[in-house]
Amino acid sequence: MAFMPRILRGVAAGACYAWPFPIANHEVSMRAALLIVLGLVIGILGTVQVMNVLGERNPLPKAVMHVMAYHAGELKHAMKAQRCDAQSTRPHLLALQAMSSDIRPAFAGADPALFQIADKLHRAADAAVQAAPADCPALDAALKPVGEACQSCHQQYR
Ligand code: HEC
Repeated sequence: MAFMPRILRGVAAGACYAWPFPIANHEVSMRAALLIVLGLVIGILGTVQVMNVLGERNPLPKAVMHVMAYHAGELKHAMKAQRCDAQSTRPHLLALQAMSSDIRPAFAGADPALFQIADKLHRAADAAVQAAPADCPALDAALKPVGEACQSCHQQYR
């Protein structure tokens, strides 16, 4: 390559390693290192995205839990505000009764013991609806077994 002007010789040497980018050899290894880092970053971002998608594949279990938590929360607020008339609390008790029967399909394939606690919760919610509590102490008493079922399942399976 002696016949080439100096600047073109550098280009030719670099081209062996980094075609089509005409750069010097020491820059080639720098560029390779940067490309490796870039590849790792892209790989990590891709993995995080795939894991997010997999995690959201079945939103039902968390959805059931969040809806139950909303209704249980509303009932707690009612007690705090001392407004426990049957008319305003009944819809929340009915919702807890309905949602608790969705635990089985939502957690399909889980430990059978989990479903026993789910049934316990459902029976407690049934009983609370039947009791038709008309004041705060009655509501508190009706909700006690409900709260206990939530807690005992979370202690073991959450
Ligand atoms: C039969 C078992 C069981 C019962 C009963 C149960 N839970 Fe859960 N709960 C779980 C499990 C398992 C998780 C974790 C779900 C997950 O991470 O996918 C959970 C998670 C939650 C969460 C967090 C959701 C999230 O996004 O991480 C809330 C809130 C919740 N439960 C509320 C309740 C309330 C309120 C009750 C009672 C009315 C209740 N749960 C009864 C098993 C149960």
